[in-house]
Amino acid sequence: MSGLYIHIPFCIKKCNYCNFHFSTRLDFKPQLIKSIGKELSMRKEEITTPVETIYFGGGTPSVLSFQELDFLFQKIKENYDVSRTSEITLEANPDDLSKEYIAFLQKNTPVNRLSIGVQSFFDEDLKFMNRMHNSQQSEICIKEAMDAGFENLTIDLIYGGQTTSDKRWLSNLEKSLSLGIPHISSYALTVEPKTAFEAGIRKGKISPVDEDKQFRHFELLRNVLPKNDYIQYEFSNFGKKGFFSQHNISYWKNKAYLGIGPSAHSYNGKDKRSWNVANNIKYIKSLQENILPLEEETINEKTRFNEKIMLGLRTVWGINIQDIGKEFSPLIVNHFHKELKKLQMENRIIISNDTVIINPEFLFLTDGIISQFFFVD
Ligand SMILES: C[S@@+](CC[C@H](N)C(=O)[O-])C[C@H]1O[C@@H](n2cnc3c(N)ncnc32)[C@H](O)[C@@H]1O
Ligand code: SF4
Repeated sequence: MSGLYIHIPFCIKKCNYCNFHFSTRLDFKPQLIKSIGKELSMRKEEITTPVETIYFGGGTPSVLSFQELDFLFQKIKENYDVSRTSEITLEANPDDLSKEYIAFLQKNTPVNRLSIGVQSFFDEDLKFMNRMHNSQQSEICIKEAMDAGFENLTIDLIYGGQTTSDKRWLSNLEKSLSLGIPHISSYALTVEPKTAFEAGIRKGKISPVDEDKQFRHFELLRNVLPKNDYIQYEFSNFGKKGFFSQHNISYWKNKAYLGIGPSAHSYNGKDKRSWNVANNIKYIKSLQENILPLEEETINEKTRFNEKIMLGLRTVWGINIQDIGKEFSPLIVNHFHKELKKLQMENRIIISNDTVIINPEFLFLTDGIISQFFFVD
């Protein structure tokens, strides 16, 4: 089984924190969608098993028109085995989710999971982030999506930002609970290169991110949500039973996936990763010439080990110790056991039934603990 990811590299406006690949030049959208259609057919041989999950990410996939969505689903159906596809997610911004758009998605497309970029239910936070929508639009579109029959719904929230007080963050969580959203992805605000936030902080116009606040917000998150039947199945992802993201789980479990569209990454499930050029014009031009705008690398054993640790330790399923013994050479296995012992002495990890997970008390330090496991020559 495989996953199919389609990157829609357009946004109406640039959020102050975001450095994902996207462009606000929407005049290239028709050509680019045509090119995505071409890439879908040129790469069909790369997926040899039925497609289990499809994920439209971005950028902002909800900028796609009805015709463009129809076209992409047609291309997918023509080229891939979707007879067993169980989850089709579309990332959407609240300002795009009109009643009409939701109804179209529900009735005329196979999309069965919506990921809505709420970020905060407070207008002050949204203004600070330079979002297109306001808090009222979020609430309305969530209710309308549920009324239209979208049960599998997730929202994105950002915590620990300069304008988000502890009280506000708790209210955001309470609001999400009261709306009955079954899945929440929640990220600490990070300051990324080439963003307005990074420039503002560098010039002293915005205060730096407060790490103590981020820690407090993370602790609130992992206290409040589990008390309300959400399982923190990955560091940033909380879902009620039956609502975990199957697509993202396949990434974390190192399964194969094909990524289509500018900047999209692919993995063959073994030793090859590839990625498309992160430039819309170059992407279109290359496909016009029937050339895939792709770079590729073969990953060695050391990288494969580091990636397995990085992805696995962020999830509740952790890392199976026997699997490491089976999959890697003695040099790496010895290194793994040495670090395992050290971290166990420090009480930072828990081992049971041959599985290692991060000790929940040290969850906020996950990235640091993971890097201690890394094999570097
Ligand atoms: C790249 S966006 C795509 C989805 C959609 N365009 C939206 O804005 O909701 C995916 C999510 O990444 C998160 N994100 C992006 N940059 C971030 C940053 N610097 N810090 C924290 N979260 C970030 C936001 O929560 C956002 O919803
Ligand atoms: S957060 Fe979403 S809407 Fe904002 S710039 Fe990034 S991709 Fe676009």
